[in-house]
Amino acid sequence: MSLPFMTAAEAAKFIKNGDAIGFSGFTSAGAPKAVTSELAKIAEAEHAKGNPFKVGMYTGASTSDMLDGALARANAVLFRTPYQSHKDLRAAINNGEAPYYDLHLSQIAQELRYGFLKKVDVAIMEACDISEDGTIILTTGVGISPTIAHQADKIIIELNHHHSKSLKGMHDLYEPAAPPYRKDIPIYTVRDRIGTPYLKVDPKKIVAVVETDLQDGFAPFTPPNEVTVKIGDNVAKFLASELKKGIIPKEFLPIQSGVGNIANAVMDSLGKNPEIPTFTMYTEVIQESIFTLMKEGHVSFASGSSLTITEEVLQDMYSNMDFFHDKLVLRPQEISNNPEVIRRLGLITINTALEADIFGNINSTHVTGTRMMNGIGGSGDFTRNAFISIFTTPSVAKGGKISAFVPMVSHHDHSEHSVKVIISEYGIADLRAKAPIERAKAIIENCVHPDYKQLLWDYLKLSKGGHSPQNLYACFAMHQQLQESGDMRNTDWSKY
Ligand code: COA
Repeated sequence: MSLPFMTAAEAAKFIKNGDAIGFSGFTSAGAPKAVTSELAKIAEAEHAKGNPFKVGMYTGASTSDMLDGALARANAVLFRTPYQSHKDLRAAINNGEAPYYDLHLSQIAQELRYGFLKKVDVAIMEACDISEDGTIILTTGVGISPTIAHQADKIIIELNHHHSKSLKGMHDLYEPAAPPYRKDIPIYTVRDRIGTPYLKVDPKKIVAVVETDLQDGFAPFTPPNEVTVKIGDNVAKFLASELKKGIIPKEFLPIQSGVGNIANAVMDSLGKNPEIPTFTMYTEVIQESIFTLMKEGHVSFASGSSLTITEEVLQDMYSNMDFFHDKLVLRPQEISNNPEVIRRLGLITINTALEADIFGNINSTHVTGTRMMNGIGGSGDFTRNAFISIFTTPSVAKGGKISAFVPMVSHHDHSEHSVKVIISEYGIADLRAKAPIERAKAIIENCVHPDYKQLLWDYLKLSKGGHSPQNLYACFAMHQQLQESGDMRNTDWSKY
């Protein structure tokens, strides 16, 4: 059977108003980029004629301007899950145009299979190679690809020639069975492979193959600044001391690190600290700092669901595949983020908080409790199941007008029961084996910005007692002050 090659515009016509679409990839890596732009044009044309045209969107995580951006601007989002980070989609979510529900990244594939979510009608997937028998080699991001490929009635492939076929062998694709037949996921070390390096689909379902040559378009990270370097150094200092005490075994443990500038700076500090031995990563996003650390010999192996790297780092990898091939594995996110595997491997998890409260609860997602930032991503998968879970955050945001530390988080993603350590540029609050009031003292003393320290000590004096000494009248006063005057520093406790 020959493959149905066609243009992106022709392929987009297979998608109908109301279809649920599953997209391959994780971040822009591995996500489709050409058919999606044409789909946005169809939506705009239909809207101009007065016709409805919206599609449901299941992705691995955030995508790119060519997917989330294009469909959000075309007002073509029927629903969207899970993590996103595009400014136009974020605006559409927060103004109610794009219905969004946030899921732990490990759960989206199984919730599709369990039938909790509307079935996938069409899968659009990026590949670097495809055979007439339906064998597909993915590119640099896996996400939920196996599940959407198996569930969809129609599959559209973007065959992206920008990626090297030498990616073959880097993927390890595996789907757990549904309960009550589910068995253990047999990953006992970060290097273990349990699935296939290719995706096999019924070739009759492939309705279009579109040839492209499109880059992921990742911008380089901003270089670490004074605050992020201090956060990174504090994380390295904490881990070195846990190693010295024998809490972290001498072999060290695999690290999971979130994505972004802070995470990049943390990885940089871990590489520079002579007391941290060579380590491995079991994470969701393998970002460019890890490639540098591999070349320098600080990271020996990385398992993830995507390579979120700039064009320069990608081309460097393709030129040095002999070096990188046996040091990387790309897995579906339900495996990279799997609670069973995370707990078994004993991960050191490092994620970033938007806001923390003085008792150790974390808000990762909602600005002032209402506006969606990005989503919970994998932070819940990793935090709840870690060997030791760390949250990092700069002590203040928006030039000091917002304290990252507040009496009570305005939205709750990670509870005090799961969060073990909080680190800012000022220091380390080790929350283990501490009662709520002791945690509050550790956080205020070690992590809070000097502008907010007295304010938060004074808040504790307003306590009405109890095990978690909150004052339910005053606990959101800092947020209210931000809304009223634009600066939390103006908070006045005298009225409480
Ligand atoms: N209130 C309002 N805005 C805040 C804030 C707060 N308490 N804390 C931070 N911000 C703003 C910053 O000012 C910045 O805004 P800008 O883009 O306009 O400059 C933005 O939030 C991002 O903050 P930044 O300090 O640069 O950190 P980041 O880029 O690392 O992002 C999160 C932090 C929390 C938004 C991000 O890590 C995230 O989405 N996490 C949830 C998912 C996750 O943890 N994934 C990894 C799991 S593997």
